Amino acid sequence: MVNYDYNHQNGTHKELFKITNCNVNAFEEKGYYATVKQELIRANNTLGEIIKNPVLGILPKTLSNTLEYAFPSTTAFFAKTPIGDIAQIHILYPETDKITRTFILMYARVVNPLMKFLFKNSVLQAAATVIEQDTGAVESLYPRQKPKIRLPNEEIMFYAEKLYRDW
Ligand SMILES: [Fe+2]
Repeated sequence: MVNYDYNHQNGTHKELFKITNCNVNAFEEKGYYATVKQELIRANNTLGEIIKNPVLGILPKTLSNTLEYAFPSTTAFFAKTPIGDIAQIHILYPETDKITRTFILMYARVVNPLMKFLFKNSVLQAAATVIEQDTGAVESLYPRQKPKIRLPNEEIMFYAEKLYRDW
């Protein structure tokens, strides 16, 4: 569900990317397949953060991303960055009844070799941090309660939950 939750980015990943807003411009679903167009608005990272992870210094303040889903295992995240076009494929697979594993495959169409040399490790480090944060969020969930308020864009998460319940 965390991969379908368009309210978690500006919480779970807020510190890393300084996300102030997450807008969903389009959501289309066709059975197990869905596409989302998302716009993330960012504030500036501190100099210290950029020194630790240089890619944070060149990411634009508005990130327009496309996500394509194949329930339940696959989320493909497409982003245009100053380094080049990035495709990040998140895979979930059940290992046992109680253990689910995850990994990502990351592809980049790099604009120039210097950018690749300078930013490759930083991009991979940011991606690894995102996965750690998502995993941490899932591992430390509060017990489920009936929600008393509605948040924007929740229908995408409810769509995934319905697929899960009807599986
Ligand atoms: Fe996430």
